[in-house]
Amino acid sequence: PAMRDQEGRFRASVAAIDTTAAGPRRSHERPAIGDSFENEADSDASLPATRAWALQHLAADPAPLTSPDLDQVEQVEEVVARGVAASEQWAALPATRRAQILREAARGMARRRGEMITVAAAEGGKTVEQTDPEVSEAIDFATYYADRALELGAGASLHSDGATFTPGRLVLVTPPWNFPIAIPIGGVLAGLAAGSAVVIKPAPPTPGCVEIAAEAVFEALDAAGVSRDVLQVVRVAENEAGKALVSHADVDTVILTGATDTATLFGGWRAQRDPAVGGARVYGETSGKNALIVTPAADLDLAVADLVKSAFGHAGQKCSAASLAILVGSVGSSDRFRRQLVDAVSSLRVGWPSDIGATMGPVIEPPHGKLLRALTTLEPGETWLVEPRQLDDSGRLWSPGLKDGVAPGSFFHLTEVFGPVLGLMRADSLEQAIELQNATAFGLTGGLHSLDEGEIDTWTDQVEVGNAYVNRHITGAIVQRQSFGGWKASAVGPGAKAGGPNYVAQLGTWRAAGLPT
Ligand code: SER
Repeated sequence: PAMRDQEGRFRASVAAIDTTAAGPRRSHERPAIGDSFENEADSDASLPATRAWALQHLAADPAPLTSPDLDQVEQVEEVVARGVAASEQWAALPATRRAQILREAARGMARRRGEMITVAAAEGGKTVEQTDPEVSEAIDFATYYADRALELGAGASLHSDGATFTPGRLVLVTPPWNFPIAIPIGGVLAGLAAGSAVVIKPAPPTPGCVEIAAEAVFEALDAAGVSRDVLQVVRVAENEAGKALVSHADVDTVILTGATDTATLFGGWRAQRDPAVGGARVYGETSGKNALIVTPAADLDLAVADLVKSAFGHAGQKCSAASLAILVGSVGSSDRFRRQLVDAVSSLRVGWPSDIGATMGPVIEPPHGKLLRALTTLEPGETWLVEPRQLDDSGRLWSPGLKDGVAPGSFFHLTEVFGPVLGLMRADSLEQAIELQNATAFGLTGGLHSLDEGEIDTWTDQVEVGNAYVNRHITGAIVQRQSFGGWKASAVGPGAKAGGPNYVAQLGTWRAAGLPT
């Protein structure tokens, strides 16, 4: 059986399929600078140049934080009032101006690539290789959402009934620390593209990354003579002030990326608001427990490479990461496959981002709870093929783990652990493998490695994930090509995907035109 070129066909049925390198090429895949900036003076940053820049600066402390740290409900009221006032000026601008400002912000981020990489390393321990494509993704969000702003401005409608779009006044973005640039700024840019003002509350470990990306937006706003209050970066602890902000009646929509439990908490707070303000409107992407199936019809060399990339990129701390490999039939008993996988996992070199040879960085904090259990405990039936080890006194550097014999229904099968451990499961058939893949509460990403057309069809029809990847690693969705978002317990809200056609258009209200039918 041969791999075929079926991208168009699968796109219709599955959110994100990538079987080949075909499709729009965006800056995410590039070593350095976004397509649109190829000819600009500041575009000399190739990955080696970026690395050199970053390595020179990695030892430096990140710049002091500039965003206010709110701890009083009254301070929240002031922020919301400023945002609402600024939203009027912003919504009144022609969409073409808003799109220009977003494109200018993209250029500003391209100029700040090295700074962002440095601060991501200092704040969250993210390696240069992992952060570089994230900066590209942020740039892609800016240009892609600028196009969506133009569509909305031109009266393009998701609805065929001629409904018109009114932006919400204020969007609150509450991003995670694991993608400290692309996810925060992606939410910000979506809100701005929709014509709303935005308040962002960075994740506590990584506020500096957000501030630097926001600086690019501020610069673009200044140049256009628009109030900086259109975007406010505020740090808020999980206290009454935080609750007041999340549940504020003037916050039309909350864009959340984080744990499913946080989404439930936010949804509960916001459901208590006056129904007249428009429901909870918490939209987001939450937890995952993601598996990649490998069948005997796979290119096994490619499967090994993609498993390692998916499981151990950013030390497994991606909601999209592969935590399970489900091996079908003879793959499960193949000594060659197991040896290759063990060798590949063992050869990862763990180090801090300033170590130029490191291929896996630290975890965000010394492991505890579920991650510590996954790193240090074998559940019944499990054995270590590669046993993880704590490498230094910081508690944050761990060598990667590979465990065999994960049992259906066990802790490791069903629980998100968010760290550098990959577990192997066995299945007699593809159908059984899909059952195991679908058995978790989550449905974020999933993969299939198989070159068999029939297997690809079967899997594509049955897998319950938002982002389904064929013969590719399962992390690193590319803006526009693989819009990103979950299913089941991995999503909240209507499910429009980040970096996809409907994401900006969900951040407002659609009103029917009242035309005669
Ligand atoms: N967008 C990221 C990825 O695709 C996850 O948030 O890996």
